[in-house]
Amino acid sequence: MSNAAKDAASAHDAKRRFTSAYDDPGTHEEISRRSWMANATLSLSGIIGLGLVIPIVGSLLPKGGEGKGVWSPLQPSEWKELQAATDKAVKLTFTVRYKDAYLPKASMDQFVWGIKTTEERMRKARPDLFDAGKAQQVPYPVATLGFTVFSPICPHLGCRYNYDADQHKFLCPCHGSVYSFEGAHIGGPAPRGLDPLPLRERSGLAEVTWIRYDKATPDRIVVSYAM
Ligand code: FES
Repeated sequence: MSNAAKDAASAHDAKRRFTSAYDDPGTHEEISRRSWMANATLSLSGIIGLGLVIPIVGSLLPKGGEGKGVWSPLQPSEWKELQAATDKAVKLTFTVRYKDAYLPKASMDQFVWGIKTTEERMRKARPDLFDAGKAQQVPYPVATLGFTVFSPICPHLGCRYNYDADQHKFLCPCHGSVYSFEGAHIGGPAPRGLDPLPLRERSGLAEVTWIRYDKATPDRIVVSYAM
């Protein structure tokens, strides 16, 4: 063999020795094994991903439905004040307990606005709340024992509105929405009237269920309940 031929043969041998595993497709069995490992890894990642995603999505969904949430007792002295009131709104405070996703239960002071009224008066002033089958209707009594309590959250963009005793109306300081004494929307950009909350009396104590409704929409969509 000539020297040139010998050099070419040894270069070819060297190249064969240094061919990496990635350049070698391997036998049919090796290819099948690698595909199986890749598929198994993908499936396992999918299962772990789903396990993480389902609780997160679940925690974002409203618990929804009548009868959900817990009852929180209102301050007895303020409840007495509302009982004695003739024609003014009274701020009623209570402690609401809530739970956010994986965080431990927490509590915070909250309040509602209470008015003395009747179902007949509310039906006349707030037909939206009684419109069966419509998304503005509430699935619980609007007036209980001669009272209605309103969520303090303005349905426009969520500010806290105030009661103006001189005007006998509820006024929101943020963008000027105005609500009648019965909570009907009568001015400003809010898309609906005030949201009444479930109220009941137990052993002489008035109790309320805290519900947060979505803002900036004419429909009453539950965002969260106190739990
Ligand atoms: S948040 Fe009340 S008017 Fe805008």
